[in-house]
Amino acid sequence: MGMHYISIFFLLFLSSLCKSDDQLTQAKPLTHDDKLVSKSGDFALGFFSPTTSNKSFYLGIWYQSLPGPHTVVWVANRDNPIVAPLSAKLIVTNNSQMVLFDSRGHNIWMTPSNITAGAPGAYAELSNSGNFVLRLPSNTDIWQSFDHPTDIILAGMRFLVSHKAQVITRLVAWKGSDDPSSGDLSISGDPSAPDLQLVTWNKTRSYCRTVWNGVSVSGGTYLSNTSSILYQTVVNSGDEFYFTYADNSVYTRVMLDHTGKYKSLAWNNHSSSWALIREYPTAACELYASCGPFSYCDLTQMVPTCQSLEGFETVDDANFSNGCRRKQALKCGNQSHFVALPGMKVPDKVLHIHNRSLDECEAECRRNCSCVAYAYANLSGAIGMADPSRCLVWSGELVDIWKAINGGESLYLWLADSPGIVPPPPFFPSTLQKKEKQKKLSR
Ligand SMILES: *[C@@H]1O[C@H](CO)[C@@H](O)[C@H](O)[C@H]1NC(C)=O
Ligand SMILES: *[C@@H]1O[C@H](CO)[C@@H](O)[C@H](O)[C@H]1NC(C)=O
Ligand SMILES: *[C@@H]1O[C@H](CO)[C@@H](O)[C@H](O)[C@H]1NC(C)=O
Ligand SMILES: *[C@@H]1O[C@H](CO)[C@@H](O)[C@H](O)[C@H]1NC(C)=O
Ligand SMILES: *[C@@H]1O[C@H](CO)[C@@H](O)[C@H](O)[C@H]1NC(C)=O
Ligand SMILES: *[C@@H]1O[C@H](CO)[C@@H](O)[C@H](O)[C@H]1NC(C)=O
Ligand SMILES: *[C@@H]1O[C@H](CO)[C@@H](O)[C@H](O)[C@H]1NC(C)=O
Ligand SMILES: *[C@@H]1O[C@H](CO)[C@@H](O)[C@H](O)[C@H]1NC(C)=O
Ligand SMILES: *[C@@H]1O[C@H](CO)[C@@H](O)[C@H](O)[C@H]1NC(C)=O
Ligand SMILES: *[C@@H]1O[C@H](CO)[C@@H](O)[C@H](O)[C@H]1NC(C)=O
Ligand SMILES: *[C@@H]1O[C@H](CO)[C@@H](O)[C@H](O)[C@H]1NC(C)=O
Repeated sequence: MGMHYISIFFLLFLSSLCKSDDQLTQAKPLTHDDKLVSKSGDFALGFFSPTTSNKSFYLGIWYQSLPGPHTVVWVANRDNPIVAPLSAKLIVTNNSQMVLFDSRGHNIWMTPSNITAGAPGAYAELSNSGNFVLRLPSNTDIWQSFDHPTDIILAGMRFLVSHKAQVITRLVAWKGSDDPSSGDLSISGDPSAPDLQLVTWNKTRSYCRTVWNGVSVSGGTYLSNTSSILYQTVVNSGDEFYFTYADNSVYTRVMLDHTGKYKSLAWNNHSSSWALIREYPTAACELYASCGPFSYCDLTQMVPTCQSLEGFETVDDANFSNGCRRKQALKCGNQSHFVALPGMKVPDKVLHIHNRSLDECEAECRRNCSCVAYAYANLSGAIGMADPSRCLVWSGELVDIWKAINGGESLYLWLADSPGIVPPPPFFPSTLQKKEKQKKLSR
């Protein structure tokens, strides 16, 4: 009987010990030489120094069970390192805040104060997905690291690009491979079209640009090249635009690295290293507008190069950065047609017109003499979109385009008819004319 009690007591004692390993409570601050470990053992939260000189310490989350140097996935105090770490500590205050102090008692980092949540007993937990969550005793989460990413999106995290047309999340690259402070490169929704495109910035200048075409917006796609796959879901409810990644393993991450590459990586157990699933950009001419106006980066070639759009020719043969010009001037609606260019990443500086059909979208372009191209997608397969039509029109110069075999969409470019083409005879029935035109478009 007594034996029984002892062993039960012992088990309870053990389980309470294990439980507290992933939790930070008011009674148990996290000290410099300690760490929290998620229940699964996959993630750890603690203090680290990215260089061997140990000059600067950061509070961060990394993969606990991987060999070699820490793969850090989140940093709390990236721009305010701890230089006196010996008695640095992270505490939960009695008004439900987390505060990081250095040895001198300086406040290095803290979660926002939430007066209404001022109840004692708040605690923080490092979850199995690598999310550090501050929670009230009532089980209400008041803060989580997943809402404040540094440079990495983990499986199960939401990259909330925009909310009510406002840019929300910006991933900011590390300054260098062993310097977690905020670098010049970042990626976010484009403030002028946050639900259409993501821009990688070099400080405030566009470095490269990714557009959501009809395909990637309509639910999930698999990103893969060989052994690793990552399931990407894009959600655009009209109000909110976000994407998430899922994998059956937590050993997957999507990141903006310090050289400006947006990478998807998966841990490879055989080689004991991170394998690249996908990265962007890869070709030099994918960098923002590097091909000049009315020119595109041709990714269908072994060595991608700049090319003139159909109906255009280079201004300066030797140098595509000066762009291209029309072979035939466009006299507004007269003797003109739209040519469909498939597989294109559509240009920047777009005007998004809502609630249009394909025909109405073309008419929208045709009735404005300064229009040069349009693109159309019906995104009715997309999750929760209020207006699934996406009519995009451009006036002025067309910049930052690429062409690929997979990906992209059709760009309808407005061109003057060639002088050689005999205009249709006046008695030609107009319905037939329309069919002819459609043939031309779907070529
Ligand atoms: C830096 O810290 C690590 C672990 O905290 C230790 O192993 C290493 O010896 C330290 N290096 C220096 C130069 O102090
Ligand atoms: C909360 O913290 C403040 C400052 O540390 C302290 O003065 C106060 O007594 C604490 N309240 C409780 C209920 O522990
Ligand atoms: C405060 O906490 C409540 C939940 O208790 C949350 O809904 C609210 O957004 C929080 N406010 C701030 C400013 O974090
Ligand atoms: C970012 O711009 C600076 C000049 O402002 C340049 O020196 C640097 O190489 C650029 N970074 C990249 C990744 O191109
Ligand atoms: C890698 O190996 C560990 C055990 O060594 C296992 O738990 C994990 O699931 C493996 N990961 C993958 C992606 O196979
Ligand atoms: C995936 O493709 C990239 C090139 O895009 C390549 O460098 C990488 O090695 C590939 N990964 C695997 C696991 O084959
Ligand atoms: C191409 O033109 C741009 C802009 O006119 C100029 O800066 C660049 O040096 C030129 N490159 C070459 C290879 O001539
Ligand atoms: C179109 O052609 C008609 C007749 O040839 C001409 O009157 C009109 O000005 C032209 N419109 C434009 C915008 O060039
Ligand atoms: C969409 O356009 C149709 C006509 O093309 C119109 O009847 C309808 O009211 C429009 N809806 C919205 C939400 O603007
Ligand atoms: C979009 O596609 C859906 C189904 O594929 C169709 O019901 C809807 O009418 C289309 N909308 C437009 C504007 O073409
Ligand atoms: C139509 O023309 C005006 C200038 O006349 C321009 O500001 C506007 O962007 C154009 N719209 C389209 C769809 O090209």
